[in-house]
Amino acid sequence: MSPLLAIDGLTAGYGGLPIIDNINLLVAQKEIIVVIGPNGAGKSTVLKSVFALTSILSGSIRFADQEIAGIATQKLVPMGICAVPQTRNIFPSLTVRENLDIGTYAAPPRNRAQVEEGVLTLFPDLKQKLDQPAGELSGGQRQMVTLGRALMSEPKLLLLDEPTAGLSPAYLERIFDLILAIRQTGITILMVEQNARQALSIADRAYVLVNGRNFASDTGANLLANDEIRRSFLGGSRPS
Ligand SMILES: Nc1ncnc2c1ncn2[C@@H]1O[C@H](COP(=O)(O)OP(=O)(O)OP(=O)(O)O)[C@@H](O)[C@H]1O
Ligand SMILES: [Mg+2]
Repeated sequence: MSPLLAIDGLTAGYGGLPIIDNINLLVAQKEIIVVIGPNGAGKSTVLKSVFALTSILSGSIRFADQEIAGIATQKLVPMGICAVPQTRNIFPSLTVRENLDIGTYAAPPRNRAQVEEGVLTLFPDLKQKLDQPAGELSGGQRQMVTLGRALMSEPKLLLLDEPTAGLSPAYLERIFDLILAIRQTGITILMVEQNARQALSIADRAYVLVNGRNFASDTGANLLANDEIRRSFLGGSRPS
């Protein structure tokens, strides 16, 4: 089967200035693919390029066998791509339900109630909070709102930029578990993570980016077992 997402020779950046250079990356159906690398390596720029938020200088991005480089974000959402950006965008004065609803604007679901029910099954914490302003939620619950909102558009491919950033260790575990549960529903995930060890442990495959270029790619397990990768990108010794 051809990959759901195929990035081939992609050079892209901002205002005509390249940030990522000749990037290749494949995501098969129902995989969890993780991108790691130092700060400023261009990880977010890869995700943003898929979501039409950069200027693409050369290369191709194919989604479900269709070239999508040059297709605007609002058209990508109904095609089945949704992104949760690195900066959390919840609307604190809107209720949790209103925040979730925003996810339906670009791609109205056929059965809104059923889609919301599915989201609340994944995020039961939000069930009792639907009518509360989202600003009253904890950091972890806010992140559930941003993930839930993305799921309201019924994506095939979910792009997650540092979904655990700033969360307490307890929530961090839960978000990784939730990402596995989201994949279980048939959604494919391409995510960037700073918590590289945990991310690699749930990844089918991962890519290491350095200075805007592909540096390494392998299964999550092989990268975790690789001494050079561990020393350079995972803070040294094997986890206990
Ligand atoms: N909107 C923008 N306009 C111009 N340059 C940008 C923009 N966004 C990012 N950059 C630059 O692109 C480079 C790569 O940024 P990017 O955000 O892709 O890195 P990253 O790997 O996600 O880093 P981090 O781990 O800090 O999130 C950085 O040098 C950054 O300053
Ligand atoms: Mg980033």
